[in-house]
Amino acid sequence: MTDPGVNPTPDMDGLLQRAVHAARNSYSPYSGFRVGAALLLTSGQVFTGTNVENVSYGLTICAERAALATAVSELGPGIRIAAVAVANLNQAASPPCGACRQVLAEFALPGAPVLFPTANGHRTMAFADLLPLAFDFKLKED
Ligand code: THU
Repeated sequence: MTDPGVNPTPDMDGLLQRAVHAARNSYSPYSGFRVGAALLLTSGQVFTGTNVENVSYGLTICAERAALATAVSELGPGIRIAAVAVANLNQAASPPCGACRQVLAEFALPGAPVLFPTANGHRTMAFADLLPLAFDFKLKED
């Protein structure tokens, strides 16, 4: 049965505009790659994030993870992601990186649409297709 809290037809264009807006705030002096992400939650609320780079490159925070951390910080651990949009201001492809996929997996519905730029236009995929076999584990009882 469909969860009545989930909008089956999220406004992906509106979500993309929110991601574009967030990308304008990018702090990316090292790569020049300006990324924005917008997360639609099952509550209907939208949270955005942008990439925040660091001179110690590996400390960079991706847009998707910035958005997720903000959502959890504001609403707590019960959030569920119903849709994701990613944008960049560089006219380049930018599917969410592998690390972001694994981090989003913690909160994303398997069927959540994920919209991202490709080399020839935008593409939308269900989250579970973007990250099949996400890492997960259960400890055995002893
Ligand atoms: N970046 C993101 O914000 N999201 C991704 O999914 C991939 C990469 C950022 C990190 C870095 O600031 C820049 O893009 C270039 O890798």
